Amino acid sequence: MAIDPTHPVPPQFPRIAGRDQIPAHVPEALIRSCNIPFGPEFLAAPHAFMADMHAHYPPVFYEVNDFGNSWQLIKHADAMFMLRHPEYFSNEGATPFPRDPDDYFYFIPIEIDPPDHRKYRAILDPVFSPQAVLALQDKIRALANELIDEFIDRGECEYTTAFGRPLPVSVFLDLMGLPQEKRDTFVDWAMQLLHSQDRAAMASAMSAISSYLKEVIAEKTVTPDDRVISRIVHATVDDRPMTPPEIFGFVIFLFIGGLDTVFATLNNIWLWLANNPARCRELIAEPENIDNQVEELLRVWTVTFSGRMLAQDCELHGVKMKKGDRVTSLLPVCNYDPDVFPNPKDTDFHRRRKPVLAFAGGAHSCMGAHLARLEIKIALQEWLRRIPEFSLKPGAAIEYRPGGVVGPEAVPLVW
Ligand code: HEM
Repeated sequence: MAIDPTHPVPPQFPRIAGRDQIPAHVPEALIRSCNIPFGPEFLAAPHAFMADMHAHYPPVFYEVNDFGNSWQLIKHADAMFMLRHPEYFSNEGATPFPRDPDDYFYFIPIEIDPPDHRKYRAILDPVFSPQAVLALQDKIRALANELIDEFIDRGECEYTTAFGRPLPVSVFLDLMGLPQEKRDTFVDWAMQLLHSQDRAAMASAMSAISSYLKEVIAEKTVTPDDRVISRIVHATVDDRPMTPPEIFGFVIFLFIGGLDTVFATLNNIWLWLANNPARCRELIAEPENIDNQVEELLRVWTVTFSGRMLAQDCELHGVKMKKGDRVTSLLPVCNYDPDVFPNPKDTDFHRRRKPVLAFAGGAHSCMGAHLARLEIKIALQEWLRRIPEFSLKPGAAIEYRPGGVVGPEAVPLVW
């Protein structure tokens, strides 16, 4: 299913949704409606719901809901297979975000299959490599401390707005070359796009983001700098400049992928720590184990999913899936697979290392993974150094917003 990135066209296989649009080859016995990520049962306690799925769902089932029907994979090995076999599981049309069919573009690099995909990743490798990211650590640490300075004496804060969000979003905007003053506007747009079940609301957020980013791209075309957007604008692929839809599709996808994933992860972790003070003491007592601690927290608090489209018929666990079917690996559920992570609901900082799928895997594994890991590590180190004991504010009601990135909306804390 080779696509031409210079001539974007809407996907051949449209999105299907609801009971009336179940393909004939789907066996009745495999149809479910778990309603991830917006069902009330899921939203009541998303990660507990997902951790329990291995007891109640077959390894492959067909999810039917009003937002989109697709096969769902919950076994770690099956997700790995999906992520490593683009010849079956294509990324063409695999994202749920709406676009104008008359002004179509691909989200880059996520919607481009190998081998073309690598050419785009190569443009930003120098920015997101482990060494490049490590060079940011002093800056991230200083920012974490500046944020903590602002609220530590108050003995309380709303974690998301005071720390969890401004830390990674500021780092991200700086990398991209976007103005810090517009931080809250960007977050609002991204939240509307990623957390709405209403296609019209998603489309309106898309349109606001699009007009703004098009202006920024025009600006960086005449006034280059060393930040990510400018690098994309002035990059070449196959010795040619990128087309306007390629540049736009690349910039907008980074905006979507990089903005709220880190703070959703931080929110989940801090909510858990606030309810488990002994685990804070454990983290503090073993500072040399920080990398394993971060990896285990990423396993238990995985926030997002991987969607693909079948480029050819494929069979898994005896289930016959057909070309054109959509497939989703429920990464958080796969990270609770008891065949790979014994006692998966336990947070065990000394677990034997196995590949955690928080950042997916294969060619499309998260480009921001090294940065995200570093941000989580520094956030834990600096927060726990200065606020080693904290708890949830009495009476706080925790709510989860529906959407493709799973985390509590607000986490009020006291110490
Ligand atoms: C804890 C934070 C994060 C998580 C959990 C996360 C998760 C993921 C996952 C699961 C994918 C693969 C999606 C798929 O296979 O369909 C992905 C891809 C991607 N992520 Fe992240 N992400 C995080 C942070 C970031 C950041 C900070 C950035 C950018 C600054 C970023 C940029 C990207 C990009 C560009 C891709 C597409 C890679 C490709 O298609 O080759 N992510 N991310």
